[in-house]
Amino acid sequence: LASDHVRIVEVGPRDGLQNEKKSIPKETKLELIQRLAKTGVTTIEAGSFVPAKWVPQMASTSEICEQLLTSPPPSQNTIAYNYLVPNIKGLESLVKIMDATGVPADSKPGTTTEVSLFAAATEAFSKANTNCSIAESLERIKPIVALAKTKNIRVRGYVSVALGCPYEGPDVDPSKVADITASLLEMGADEVSVADTTGMGTAPRTNELLTTLKAAGIASTDLALHFHDTYGQALVNTIVGLEHGIRIFDSSVGGLGGCPYSKGATGNVSTEDLIHTIHSLGMNTGISLEEMSKIGTWISGELGRVNDSRAGKATSAR
Ligand code: HMG
Ligand code: MG
Repeated sequence: LASDHVRIVEVGPRDGLQNEKKSIPKETKLELIQRLAKTGVTTIEAGSFVPAKWVPQMASTSEICEQLLTSPPPSQNTIAYNYLVPNIKGLESLVKIMDATGVPADSKPGTTTEVSLFAAATEAFSKANTNCSIAESLERIKPIVALAKTKNIRVRGYVSVALGCPYEGPDVDPSKVADITASLLEMGADEVSVADTTGMGTAPRTNELLTTLKAAGIASTDLALHFHDTYGQALVNTIVGLEHGIRIFDSSVGGLGGCPYSKGATGNVSTEDLIHTIHSLGMNTGISLEEMSKIGTWISGELGRVNDSRAGKATSAR
């Protein structure tokens, strides 16, 4: 693997926090985002515009978004703040804030605004997560992409349960994942993050999936990988992804995440472990492992949880 740049998408403030049972103060979330923005990371998922009755923890996203849009740039690089939107209503809420603050999506230098949309590779998960079928969810996504494009908002698509589903098991059809990924790209998504929601993915099945995506004509440069580390396979699967030419990976600081209702479920692969692995291969991320590790220690303390990052704990102890 030649020296190369990998872009890490920090999803901790959204994927990492969305399932925390205890309400986290808005100030803590903002501090988390603002500290992350100083590590060298260039894309941060800052929240989601979803109904509070579905995900109460994300109810402060509007205020956080407004604050981020009106604060001075946090660092010398341009930071893309990304928000998850499940439907057009979610995007309209974001656009309203952008219009009210007068900050366009592609303002430079400083910050840019992006959105993420999500579809699932199994019917059962689609129903549970978006209350509709896969086909309906793709129909729902079309006008969201169209509206985002008129506002110059970059669009990321997600395909959930690509390597295993809590309802349908580990054998998710890779060609189904390829079809949905292709649909999202055809609709205008700028990249698609293929997600191992359950962490059931293994190296051979990740290889099979990525081989199928390639055979379907999907370029590795259009893909990101989003591994949850439930079975401890995220870094192994990351290496498989790197070998397939993928250079965008999602992770959360301190390995934040996990669902309090689902026994044994863990968060995303930790950003610190991902940085350590990528740097060990002679590749670069532009992110300081030391700074990221300090944030992992701090936020774990704030949430009263164990720091789930091995590299983070080791680095902080040095
Ligand atoms: P629904 O209940 O079918 O929606 O949910 P609805 O259109 O019937 O609306 C119900 C109520 O919600 C209405 O209010 C709407 O106005 C309101 P009421 O009339 O009852 O007062 N509403 C909204 N409010 C605020 N913001 C909105 C919004 N939309 C409707 N955007 C829906 C359908 C898609 C909204 C719901 O299923 C949903 O929010 N799902 C998202 C759940 C979620 O956030 N999941 C976690 C994120 S995905 C993830 O973690 C996976 C990922 O990490 C990748 C991976 O690992 O797999 C990305
Ligand atoms: Mg996720």
